[in-house]
Amino acid sequence: MNEKIPVWIDTDTGVDDAGALMTAFSFPELDVTGISAVAGNVHLKDTFRNARNVAYLCGRQDVKVYPGAEGPLFCELVTAEAVHGDNGIGNVTLPESPAPKETKKAWTAMYEKAKELKGELQIIAVGPLTDLALAITTYPDFHVYVKRILIMGGAAVGGNVTAAAEFNIHADPEAAEIVFNSGIPVVMCGLDVTDKAVYPFEELDRVYETKDPRAVLLHDAYGVARPQYSTWTKGKGIRIHDANPVLYAVHPEIYHSEHCGVFVETQGLYTRGKTVTDLWSDQKFKERHVDVVLDVDVNAFCRYITDAVTK
Ligand code: RIB
Ligand code: CA
Repeated sequence: MNEKIPVWIDTDTGVDDAGALMTAFSFPELDVTGISAVAGNVHLKDTFRNARNVAYLCGRQDVKVYPGAEGPLFCELVTAEAVHGDNGIGNVTLPESPAPKETKKAWTAMYEKAKELKGELQIIAVGPLTDLALAITTYPDFHVYVKRILIMGGAAVGGNVTAAAEFNIHADPEAAEIVFNSGIPVVMCGLDVTDKAVYPFEELDRVYETKDPRAVLLHDAYGVARPQYSTWTKGKGIRIHDANPVLYAVHPEIYHSEHCGVFVETQGLYTRGKTVTDLWSDQKFKERHVDVVLDVDVNAFCRYITDAVTK
């Protein structure tokens, strides 16, 4: 087998983040070198606990989880308990990880790992980009040591928090602008693709019956959001937004992406938090470091998710 792909996962462990973590741990091709928790879907104390406990559920309490930012760089933290439950994973109670609680801050741990791996580290960020922005601004040579950043965030078209903005970017637009301005190559799995990757309710209920603890968690964690997803997907299923950058890191062949320039609006009355792409404009940005993912083989996506929680 080829060399493992070293990745770091920064997450605001919510329900689809839990799906992303379980998917990452299911791939022998990935070496999850570290995890950091950031405030976003819920407060940091909950995202930190959830990330630790999902790793433990997967038997990966060996992977260190670091605490990150308690809120955005400048704006107020706006959480999403209506979707993720008060505790961030659908109010499911997981066994507590026995792993020691790390106290080193996420951006320092991320930087140290990136430097140790001499530029091979790929960072998968599936929450607000506050920790990454702090790493970039705290360590001027951080960008030298990061091979690429794969995010769940943004949207070339549309939004889910406003008409123009997706949750992770809208949560901390200034942080996102720092990341997109850093020059580090970015793979942007925005709503353009993650809204298409619907995991059917029938499949979710079928894998639940296997009683694999991971399938049970995925099923139960989405309990709070299920009625909402039923409305949003017209009765089809759930969206595991954050699993997409993980899958892209291992199986880019199931996706279609376009290379372009992307920058983040931080001032707009209607457009704050919008990821502005030059995909369909004659006016191209000078700096173009982003692969915007636009399409996915949904059947392949669902197969990988089912394997991740049952095999
Ligand atoms: O817009 C979807 C994103 O916002 C996902 O990362 C979800 O976990 C929430 O953080
Ligand atoms: Ca998330």
